Amino acid sequence: MFDISKTTAWALRQLNPEFAHEIAISAISHGFAGKGKPDHSALKVEAMGLSFPNPIGLAAGFDKNARAIQGLADLGFGMIETGTVTPRPQIGNPKPRLFRLVKDRAIINRMGFNSCGIDTFCQNLANLGRANKGNQPHVTNVPVGANLGINKMGAHPLIDYPALVGRTKAHADYITINLSSPNTPGLRDLQEADMLSRLLEAINQAHPDRPPLLVKLAPDLPDQAYMPIVQAAINGGANGLILTNTTLARPENLTSSHKKETGGLSGAPLAPRAREVLQIVAGLNQRKLCLISSGGIETGKDILERLQLGADLVQIYTSFIYEGPAVLTRLKQELLSAMSEASIRTLKDLPRRL
Ligand SMILES: Cc1cc2nc3c(=O)[nH]c(=O)nc-3n(C[C@H](O)[C@H](O)[C@H](O)COP(=O)(O)O)c2cc1C
Repeated sequence: MFDISKTTAWALRQLNPEFAHEIAISAISHGFAGKGKPDHSALKVEAMGLSFPNPIGLAAGFDKNARAIQGLADLGFGMIETGTVTPRPQIGNPKPRLFRLVKDRAIINRMGFNSCGIDTFCQNLANLGRANKGNQPHVTNVPVGANLGINKMGAHPLIDYPALVGRTKAHADYITINLSSPNTPGLRDLQEADMLSRLLEAINQAHPDRPPLLVKLAPDLPDQAYMPIVQAAINGGANGLILTNTTLARPENLTSSHKKETGGLSGAPLAPRAREVLQIVAGLNQRKLCLISSGGIETGKDILERLQLGADLVQIYTSFIYEGPAVLTRLKQELLSAMSEASIRTLKDLPRRL
């Protein structure tokens, strides 16, 4: 059957990747990208005191400036993570900085936090029509997250992150501090346990009334490095972790001509490491923190597997780029079939391996 959403995704893939992205954001923000069906109640997830209609979130970096939230919610995502936003506007790295590795079902990006800055970002969130005081649901009816980062120049993480939390706390259902994008020099050093503890303490002291706070981690740390980080996150009162951001690794089996480009690799080749990091962290976490798994998710079976490995929710980016909004319908159908095959009635009943 002719599928308009898949055809559009194909057409966008023929264009320069950043131009295609701009068209997609614009179309979605104007409601031209369509509407998904209401979710099956079996897919509902409760986590961090929030209610998610399904476990499939949009990962950060697609709607960096919070321009298309309502349209994205209409497509059927279970959560929308906006950002990464930086304190001051910045243009990011020189172009080209976004590369499709089509044969590898992957992307390499070195965007470098192109951001409209926190003022415009908050204005865009405020235009959505609600501040989260009193736990009123967003007009979107889908949890909306704000993913925070720092500027390339003149950054003061212990001042900047708390300030950004202060600016976004009234507008976001949850907040993520991004310590793991590979394209901002020094950012990944902030994952170190001591530094993470100091960041969390500074945020909690300044904003005890903040919404749930997550920390987004890289996949490129040595296995043993995750233990002190998870401990620091738990002790520091974080509510969750997002595992993982893009990787600097280049698996040997990449075939696309762009494989040597500098930047973070996402999509199918990231999946094995994202799964591994989830397993390591789930073992350490003992269900204290909410875990969101991201990295190379392409099928409903992938989603069920991540949930069984200990994730509460998942996020996608690259598979959405390649397939367009149709990916959501497919993933939900496949997830429901995989659940039925495993005799899992609802995600709430899911037995998790730890
Ligand atoms: C073009 C692009 C831009 C991204 N920008 C951000 C970002 O600004 N902040 C962030 O936390 N993650 C960013 N990411 C990482 C994604 O949120 C996600 O964690 C990663 O791509 C793995 O998921 P995937 O394999 O489904 O794409 C970006 C990814 C891509 C492909």
